[in-house]
Amino acid sequence: MDWTIINEKVQAWMQEARQLILKRRTQALKIDEKTSRLDLVTNVDCEIESFYTKKIMAAFPNSEIFGEEHGKQHETKQADLLWIIDPIDGTMNFIKQAANYASMIAIYENGHEKLGYILDVAQNKLYWGGPECGVFCNETKLNPPENLALEQGLIGIGGRMLLANYLHVQDACQASLGIRISGSAGMEFINVLSGKTIAYLSHLKPWDYAAGKIMAETLGLVVKTIDGNPLAVLSSSDVLVATKNAQQGILKWLR
Ligand code: IPD
Ligand code: CA
Ligand code: CA
Repeated sequence: MDWTIINEKVQAWMQEARQLILKRRTQALKIDEKTSRLDLVTNVDCEIESFYTKKIMAAFPNSEIFGEEHGKQHETKQADLLWIIDPIDGTMNFIKQAANYASMIAIYENGHEKLGYILDVAQNKLYWGGPECGVFCNETKLNPPENLALEQGLIGIGGRMLLANYLHVQDACQASLGIRISGSAGMEFINVLSGKTIAYLSHLKPWDYAAGKIMAETLGLVVKTIDGNPLAVLSSSDVLVATKNAQQGILKWLR
C-alpha cells in the first residue's frame, strides 16, 4: 500500500469536496429531519458522501465504506481498507451559521488505524495524519499539546450532555477554566489537537470520532469512553478525548 499516494489523493478529494460544499451553500438547501427536528440532513451531506464513495471505489476498489448517510457500502471480507466518512459534521452549523462545520474521513488498513482527516471547511484548514507520519494542519506539523490538568484549561462538551448533567459532568466543568460548546465533534477534536481546549466530552457515533481519535492518540492524547474504558470499534459511545492529566481530573468528578 503506497500511503503517500493515498494521502495525496484524499487531500485532493477533500479540496474538491470543499469547493462543492461552498458552492452548494450559496444555493437553496434541501433539508430533511432524520430522527428529530434537531437531527438534520441536507442534500449536500448526501452528495458529498456519494462524491467520496465514488472517488474511493474508483481509486481503491478493495475498499469497504462506512458513512453516516448511506451506512455500510461495498462490504466484503476481502477489503484491505475501511473508510469511515462523516461528509458534513455539524450539519446544524452548516445550515444556520455557514461556519463551524467539518468534513471527516478515517482510514483503517486490516483493522489498524492509519490516517485521519478533519477539514475545517470555512477556514480551509485540513488537520490530517496518523501514527506513522504525525499530525499536520495543512503543511505545518503539530507538536503534542501540553499535558495540562483539568484546572488549567477549557473543556469542550456536547450541549445535551451538559444540560442533562450526565454523570455529574457539570462538576468536572466547574473545576476547569470554563466550557465551550461548538456543535461539531470535528471542530472540538481540532480544538483539543491544537491545544485550545484540554478535553472534549460527548455522546458520539463512529463517524464523529474515528478521524479525530487517530490523530489525538498520535499526539499522546487519551481517547476513551467517558468512564475510562477503551472504545469499542465502530460503535456509538460516550467519548472523552483529553490530555492525560485532564482525563484523570475529569474521571474523579464523574459518578
Ligand atoms: C453531530 C455534531 C454534534 C454532536 C452530535 C453529532 P452531525 O454531527 O458533531 O456536535 O454533538 O452528536 O451527531 O450530525 O452534524 O454530523
Ligand atoms: Ca457528525
Ligand atoms: Ca454528518
